[in-house]
Amino acid sequence: MSNVLYEVKGNIGILTISREKALNALNSEVLADIDAALDAVDLDVVRCLIITGAGQKSFVAGADIGEMSTLTKAEGEAFGKKGNDVFRKIETFPIPVIAAVNGFALGGGCEISMSCDIRICSDNAVFGQPETGLGITPGFGGTQRLARLVSPGMAKQLIYTARNIKADEAYRIGLVNAVYPQEELMPAAEKMAAAIAKNAPIAVRNCKKAINDGLQVGMDEAVVIEEKLFGDCFETHDQVEGMSAFLEKRKEKNFINK
Ligand code: CAA
Repeated sequence: MSNVLYEVKGNIGILTISREKALNALNSEVLADIDAALDAVDLDVVRCLIITGAGQKSFVAGADIGEMSTLTKAEGEAFGKKGNDVFRKIETFPIPVIAAVNGFALGGGCEISMSCDIRICSDNAVFGQPETGLGITPGFGGTQRLARLVSPGMAKQLIYTARNIKADEAYRIGLVNAVYPQEELMPAAEKMAAAIAKNAPIAVRNCKKAINDGLQVGMDEAVVIEEKLFGDCFETHDQVEGMSAFLEKRKEKNFINK
């Protein structure tokens, strides 16, 4: 996995996309490395994953334009599927994933951040979907997730104009939850991950599934999804532990994901 660095700090995993010479652009090899790194995350230990980019300048500057430049229609479709499969794995990853966007998040970079549960960024971050200027559509989920995350009108404006936006505008339109000075970004991401990791993993995982699955269906079906995942928490060690701690006025809780 030469294009991905992975480290574990306590219950937090940090996956760094590392192809600095191309501003961490995603070629097939990088996508395969991210996929393998996700498979290698020990979900018995890690309760929240952070994805970031190597260096001070770029999170991910998009899909690799060199690799895409000679693709046939069929190869283009297959390349889109390759990215979509990896990003869908992130989106449906059992534990929360935070994108710590430390610079350019263009095209596939904006798209990988949108497959994460939460986005925070540094003040030098730049977001955008420049694909129409390259003669293609966003192909790793951008046409779908941007419209769902901001508004369809704003997504269409950004995609049709291929205009990049800075961190403050990304914050204003709700694409990121918070903006930090560069040096404060990773500490903030780790602090948020730790706040997530201290809660019952079963509950957090079920919340992720309830929110994600519920958003795909109408409210009548959505509340049933919630009821099932709510019920699923009962009779677990962590439910008994969380409620006992409250009733015993005990601060320390021993959640074990069981
Ligand atoms: N693909 C391949 N290589 C890339 C790249 C990309 N998306 N983005 C940057 N690079 C490479 C550059 O070619 C350059 O390599 P060389 O040193 O070998 O020339 C190196 O990274 C540094 O880049 P720049 O010299 O261009 O750096 P800069 O500071 O002048 O500009 C930038 C930075 C504005 C991000 C600029 O590199 C840029 O515009 N990159 C392309 C952004 C883009 O269009 N992304 C969308 C790609 S399409 C896509 O993602 C499709 C999809 O949805 C699946």
